[in-house]
Amino acid sequence: MIYSEKDKKFKRYTVTSALPYANGPVHIGHLAGVYVPADIYVRYLRSQGEEVMFIGGSDEHGVPITIKARREGVTPQDIVDRYHGIIKESFKELGISFDIYSRTSSPEHHKTAAEFFKKLYEEGKFVEKTSMQYYDEEAHQFLADRYITGTCPHCGNEHAYGDQCEACGTSLNATDLINPKSALSGNPPVMKETKHWYLPLNEDEPWLRQWILEDHKGDWKTNVYGQCKSWIDAGLQPRAVTRDLDWGVKVPLEGTDGKVLYVWFDAPIGYISFTKQLKGDDWEKWWKDQDTKLVHFIGKDNIVFHCIIFPSMLHADGSYILPQNVPANEFLNLEGDKISTSRNWAVWLHEYLKEFPGKQDVLRYTLCSNAPETKDNDFTWKDFQLKNNSELVAILGNFVNRTLVLTHKFYGGRVPVAGPWGELEQETIREMAAIPEKVGRSIESYRFREALAEMMNLARVGNKYLTDTEPWKLIKSDSERTATVMNLSLQICANLAILCEPFLPFTSAKIRRMMNLGANLRWRDAGSAELLAANMLMEKPELLFEQIDDATIEHQVAKLLETKKQNALNAWMPAEVKPTVAFEDFGKMDIRVGTVLECTKVPKADKLLKFLIEDGMGTRTIVSGIAKFYPEPEKLVGMQVCFIANFAPRKLKGVESQGMILSAEDKDGRLVLVTPSQLVTPGCNVG
Ligand code: MF3
Ligand code: ZN
Repeated sequence: MIYSEKDKKFKRYTVTSALPYANGPVHIGHLAGVYVPADIYVRYLRSQGEEVMFIGGSDEHGVPITIKARREGVTPQDIVDRYHGIIKESFKELGISFDIYSRTSSPEHHKTAAEFFKKLYEEGKFVEKTSMQYYDEEAHQFLADRYITGTCPHCGNEHAYGDQCEACGTSLNATDLINPKSALSGNPPVMKETKHWYLPLNEDEPWLRQWILEDHKGDWKTNVYGQCKSWIDAGLQPRAVTRDLDWGVKVPLEGTDGKVLYVWFDAPIGYISFTKQLKGDDWEKWWKDQDTKLVHFIGKDNIVFHCIIFPSMLHADGSYILPQNVPANEFLNLEGDKISTSRNWAVWLHEYLKEFPGKQDVLRYTLCSNAPETKDNDFTWKDFQLKNNSELVAILGNFVNRTLVLTHKFYGGRVPVAGPWGELEQETIREMAAIPEKVGRSIESYRFREALAEMMNLARVGNKYLTDTEPWKLIKSDSERTATVMNLSLQICANLAILCEPFLPFTSAKIRRMMNLGANLRWRDAGSAELLAANMLMEKPELLFEQIDDATIEHQVAKLLETKKQNALNAWMPAEVKPTVAFEDFGKMDIRVGTVLECTKVPKADKLLKFLIEDGMGTRTIVSGIAKFYPEPEKLVGMQVCFIANFAPRKLKGVESQGMILSAEDKDGRLVLVTPSQLVTPGCNVG
């Protein structure tokens, strides 16, 4: 029973998840924002016996892909082939249960997207406009979307794109940008005339206002509603749905060579074309029947496209339903920093799966319990470890394991016959019976963290029951009551197998296997204390979860620190030049060349080396803080160095230093001695 659909009962559910760009692998930000919640939702609906279709696929057009291809010197098709494969495989391994995972470069998709455009074109739904657009004279190319960057007029972000500012989420036109620059040549672009087709969103304002701001008030999440309201209130502008590019779905009109559909026009049509691939002739009811509930799972940077632009496209066609909800999440950060593909600041799904084999549910659990549902949130490896060790192992795993181990110990693995329920049992059963509806209602209202916590409460109820009854002691005094306790504990385990399935499908399957439950136990069965018949045989218990130790976590943290270091190196720039000085000022500095006679470590000072220098007039001692970079100081003997000869002497760790040896600081902080390119006479001047 769908608890929240009292007034209107839908016959079926079309659930979509944003199509990830096939220009990189999927990371934990994608998962927490979109795919884990979407998968929980559809698994729950299926367990409820509902008819559900879960659509996914790769978004293979758009400028990010062509930019990456250009950078690597390969074709866009090469790029999407590479990442589509990785993404599809890793989703599957994580148990994201798409009914289809397709791709927008497929011929079926091109056909559907072109037909969609053609129909709107023929019905006069577009406005045709010739306008001046940015053009890169060096690259001979119009600059659409991400080919142009500049400053966002709304928030001042200097790296906004021609179609969107990722910092404030605003959807932009390239001409809105302040100080525009071509991403191809880096030059400021020029204006050149071109023709495009526009969706007149300004005309959609009245019905959008009614549909979103009135009909879905209090029903859509506040972050989604709020963003929509501010766009609608700001006044919607016509939006070009074609581009001057050669990668994408060709505009299906005569004389439009070099023009393709805008990626945000074709990609959401992917949801429809993939449905056709999956359902064949039976596809239409999933998109056109008022009894179908359409739900789009997305990240917050996709809100405008799924709440305003795609609905306007569907509305312009006239034969489609509109989404009932668009549960968009905020962003997940990683160890306090924004996740970034280009800075490699991410935990990549395909790498996680390799490094943590068999631990899919640990990631699903951590990401769900930490999902950025109402605000941006942070993933940390420490927290991942804590959630595993003190929740999955200590609460869920512990309860199921204790119950099954005792069942084997006391009853050879057979479910014992329960006597009449006592007061404690009745109370425990009451608590258990209330949980499925709580979990269900939370899922139905897209509050997945809350739903997960409610599910875990059932394991807590179980643990408390075992602690209160202590069957390991009770068996010595009251075998009849022990049988009752163990029977009820096993019933709770069976309930957990049902309730954890949307969140932790691998764990659910494992419990079902160990308890010989089969797949026929569904949501409607949950809450009952009679799921298991007496004498049923349980298999040998295996641990559901294992501890994750500190070394494992430290390894992951070290990997991230390495990335940080690499990023700092990549971002290195020479220091700014200091203010101008007069030549006389330079002349005051007495720089000379000397030959190293001796070089030793300064005792009890791990940074310092003590040099004895032949300076043409005699010898002098100079202490220099470069020991870390020259671990074998004796090898410096005979080398010539440059030093400042007229610094006042000073004591360093008890040694008097008579000058300063010059060294260059490289971008990684390494100090390298400066030495003349040929042997010179000790004591000669540098200048
Ligand atoms: N590729 C887009 C992104 O990653 C999402 C596309 S969703 C679709 O932000 F609806 F257009 F398919
Ligand atoms: Zn902005």
